[in-house]
Amino acid sequence: MKNIVVLVSGGGTNLQALIDAQESGLIANGRITCVIASKPGVYALERAKNHRIPTRVIARKDYTDVIAYSQAILDALNEEKADLVVYAGFMTILDELVCKAYPYQMMNVHPALIPSFCGKGYYGLRVHEEALKKGVKVTGATVHFVTEVCDGGPIILQKAVAVEDDDTPEVLQKRVMEQAEWKILPQAVSLFCDDKLIVKDDRVSIKK
Ligand code: GAR
Repeated sequence: MKNIVVLVSGGGTNLQALIDAQESGLIANGRITCVIASKPGVYALERAKNHRIPTRVIARKDYTDVIAYSQAILDALNEEKADLVVYAGFMTILDELVCKAYPYQMMNVHPALIPSFCGKGYYGLRVHEEALKKGVKVTGATVHFVTEVCDGGPIILQKAVAVEDDDTPEVLQKRVMEQAEWKILPQAVSLFCDDKLIVKDDRVSIKK
């Protein structure tokens, strides 16, 4: 059974999708053992508490620089004996010292089809604002391994979602979450916990 540690910064709907997948048996070989928030008081912490999942708050504002913050996160991951670390709406970029300690053991869900609308500055609603500004007809979500390149690690799963003419960023965000993120994130976690993800030459293949 793999220990899954989930990092959050906000409402935690992706965390909820993982909790639901765990409770329905979709994630058979892993369990969420800790939720770490980068801010106190975020609703994701309530979601964890409602399901008796231990939580920690490691607030970004309590650390002067990204290295000190990253080291605190790494210490917590080591204490929790994490086998898999999931960024589920985690909005803080960590120093590479963290992902190097957990190679291909950290994954992130991003609300676009990488390599579109990704990288530094593309997070949350901003991603959907840019997609609408560009006029793309299809967007979606990506789950990828975290490496030192922001949103640049090997892609695990992607799912496309249609953009409608009258979409607002909020409407599009909700559709991308419902139709893509909440589906592919639990699937990717389940595949990881079943040892079905193989990374070779920066690409992921899925064992049959
Ligand atoms: C989600 O759409 C997630 O993909 C995005 O923030 C939202 C968090 O929602 N993450 C990023 O933009 C990371 N670059 P949630 O807190 O309800 O899961």
